[in-house]
Amino acid sequence: MPHALFKAVRTSNWSDDHVGLHGVSVDEVREAVLERPYWSAPGQEGTTLLYGLTFAGRHLLVVVIPEGEEASVVAARDMKEAWDDSYTGEAPPPWDIGRPQPALVRLADAGRFAGRVLDAGCGTGEHVLLAASRGADATGIDLAPTAIAHARAKAAERGLNARFEIADALDLPRQARTADIVIDSGVFHVFDDEDRAKYVAGLAAVLRPGGTCYLMCFSDRQPGDWGPRRFRAEELRAEFSDGWSVESLTADTFDLNLIHGVTQAQAWLAVIVRR
Ligand SMILES: C[S@@+](CC[C@H](N)C(=O)[O-])C[C@H]1O[C@@H](n2cnc3c(N)ncnc32)[C@H](O)[C@@H]1O
Repeated sequence: MPHALFKAVRTSNWSDDHVGLHGVSVDEVREAVLERPYWSAPGQEGTTLLYGLTFAGRHLLVVVIPEGEEASVVAARDMKEAWDDSYTGEAPPPWDIGRPQPALVRLADAGRFAGRVLDAGCGTGEHVLLAASRGADATGIDLAPTAIAHARAKAAERGLNARFEIADALDLPRQARTADIVIDSGVFHVFDDEDRAKYVAGLAAVLRPGGTCYLMCFSDRQPGDWGPRRFRAEELRAEFSDGWSVESLTADTFDLNLIHGVTQAQAWLAVIVRR
């Protein structure tokens, strides 16, 4: 767990009432910040956004003001609502760069995005629109309504035919979808271990045998402890060891909006075939 950012939570500026505004308890915040944080990013006005899991498995976004090794809590929300918040700020979130990731453009140029393409956790839709622009029957799903609204607006502006739906990528088997291709850019790495297993099982349910998943996630070669969990190549292979063939696993990069002084992060690009 790379995000041991804080050793204590300062209670002076927060209370049950304040945090409870969004139906989150102080104990849950303590668990998410101190025990099981898994992602952090800079927020507005000197705040830090911390994503963490409660012991009961609830994903929280907690906004804190760092004070040395202590965190002073500003607000806390359930993450299903919180993902949408990342798209409603003045600036787009770090991953929402307004164009597709170069690694995925290369795959599109190689004719890899054809047939029924599903982008799981599509954000504002750049990769769905990339696939649609190459003639694929493309669908994007995301939990965040604001991201889906942006994606639909871009499709209309660009005159591209693509479907965008608000849906949970952890609930794929119930959605009765079938895809030839799944794209995952920066989603696999947001899940904790339990949800990741569920997610991979869902991908297997959606992809037809012989179908391919193109997955980009943060790599252990990326220094620092900001951002999502970093994966080692062998961890990634282990996640897809049952019922999949890893066709290739190559070092690549994510382009990002400026964060912590960088505009790129080290990634793995995995090409994984459903057996
Ligand atoms: C790091 S962003 C990447 C977005 C997009 N793939 C891109 O490359 O810009 C992660 C995305 O996953 C979405 N997400 C997180 N959990 C999800 C879930 N359970 N189901 C669907 N989308 C989810 C978030 O709303 C967010 O848009």
